Amino acid sequence: MSFKSKVVVVTGSSGGIGAAIAILFAKEGADVVVIGRDDEKLKNVKEQCETYGRTPLVLKADVSKDDDAKKIIAETINTFGRLDVLVNNAGILRMSSFVDGTFLRSFDEINNTNLRAAAHLIQLATPHLIASQGNVINISSVAGRQLVCFECTAYGVSKAAMDMLTSGAALELGKYGVRVNAISPGPVRTQILKTTDENASVQPESVPIKTILNRTSEPEEIADLVLFVASDKAKGITGSNLTTDNGYLVIR
Ligand SMILES: NC(=O)c1ccc[n+]([C@@H]2O[C@H](COP(=O)([O-])OP(=O)(O)OC[C@H]3O[C@@H](n4cnc5c(N)ncnc54)[C@H](OP(=O)(O)O)[C@@H]3O)[C@@H](O)[C@H]2O)c1
Repeated sequence: MSFKSKVVVVTGSSGGIGAAIAILFAKEGADVVVIGRDDEKLKNVKEQCETYGRTPLVLKADVSKDDDAKKIIAETINTFGRLDVLVNNAGILRMSSFVDGTFLRSFDEINNTNLRAAAHLIQLATPHLIASQGNVINISSVAGRQLVCFECTAYGVSKAAMDMLTSGAALELGKYGVRVNAISPGPVRTQILKTTDENASVQPESVPIKTILNRTSEPEEIADLVLFVASDKAKGITGSNLTTDNGYLVIR
């Protein structure tokens, strides 16, 4: 599945699922834009992309900040002259409680990163995606359809809203030849559970996770699906929410 001469923006690609997605696109010949906030992690992903012969554009940016979002699209166009695929992957998980009075702060933080930033980037990318007949992939979660743990309501709300964002953007952009899809992983082995608020009364790592296949996915499995959905092999897929969860939802 060659992505030669294609330009792919992957938010939150300094680690976890986003890093696996960026590296896979680089392997398939794409010019990749790697985005995150941590210099060391960004450098590591850049070096891994370079082993496939392409130098990625690396942007230190916080997607929840409007100026940073504008910079991501502007610098992509300045550097590569086009944009073919936008992967809205950056996401955070925070535990929060109505009883403890921590809900609203987490709600704003989570939604600014997981949801508002994705909506903003789709809006900014739209003219370039129409020009390239490109597509958007939003990394959602099974948490958008089922509450996956106690006190992670705000995260679930962000992912449920991302699913509706996907449907609505697909509906509007379809007539311009732009596809928009979501991919909803179940549990994946990344740092997301370790970067939550250590003061929270419930830690997500303490929540038992059961899947039909009795396994947790690796980030590369999600990247494989993203690559397929972004490719012309998936030219008939838009407005879809593809689940890759080892059967997690079936036994919830
Ligand atoms: N892991 C799972 O079990 C799972 C399951 C379903 C869905 N997901 C979704 O998959 C996506 C990736 O999660 P992950 O598990 O790979 O998490 P992760 O290992 O914690 O990685 C998150 C990435 O997002 C970046 N990031 C976070 N906030 C950002 C911001 N404001 N601006 C720019 N970059 C930001 C981080 O980079 P820096 O640290 O450099 O800022 C990091 O590269 C998320 O949307 C998550 O909700 C994960």
